[in-house]
Amino acid sequence: MTTDIEYKKMAVAREALSFIEDGMIIGVGSGSTVRYFIDFLGKMYREGKIRDIVGLPTSFETRRLLLKNGIKLASLWEYPEPDIAIDGADSILMDKNLIIKGLGGALLQEKLMDYAAKKLIIIVDESKMNKEVPVPIEVFPIALEYVILRLKKLGGNPKIREGTGKLWPVISDNGNFIIDLYMRMKELDKNTEVILNSIPGVFENGIFVRKMTILVGIDSKKAEKLEFN
Ligand code: A5P
Repeated sequence: MTTDIEYKKMAVAREALSFIEDGMIIGVGSGSTVRYFIDFLGKMYREGKIRDIVGLPTSFETRRLLLKNGIKLASLWEYPEPDIAIDGADSILMDKNLIIKGLGGALLQEKLMDYAAKKLIIIVDESKMNKEVPVPIEVFPIALEYVILRLKKLGGNPKIREGTGKLWPVISDNGNFIIDLYMRMKELDKNTEVILNSIPGVFENGIFVRKMTILVGIDSKKAEKLEFN
């Protein structure tokens, strides 16, 4: 059964199509909302309603879905400045003008893509507004304990991400470990992104700060548009 939240995700995924034009190089994020976007984009492409697009994936899952939909693939090597990136998010912090991503473990490639693109469109359902989530951090495996120590000294509560179907830690698409940093939301700001990335052994963290358009799914038809600068 399709739930209310799935309809909201579909609404924003559909709305995101209005930003896509013929010939565009499109960075494609990861997650369940982006999955709808890829399906809709693939359908338009197969029906000839959109032509000559190229998709740059940010995870193995997205790569597979783009391929399945017949969309031509490339990477940031060929196109270091994509026309647009479409991505999901885990929390939208309205008053801080930033978003948090990476609960699906794809933050490193997503950040690269989302910062490289000329325009960034974030698609979320309304449950993501000001949602309390940890900040995911992708870490070089041998640096794990050192990074944990540094994060504790900063006053945070770091937890190594574990999954199912494998013993102990989750391994990212890039072969790294992920730490979820629990900290008080009110202590988090744009500087936190830079502070976390300055720890040796940290590849990236899930705080995304840049100009972006955020489409928020309110119901199955309506999407509210927010602009972050
Ligand atoms: C992946 O690591 C995340 O950054 C996703 O973009 C995020 O989890 C959004 O996923 P949903 O659309 O499934 O909520």
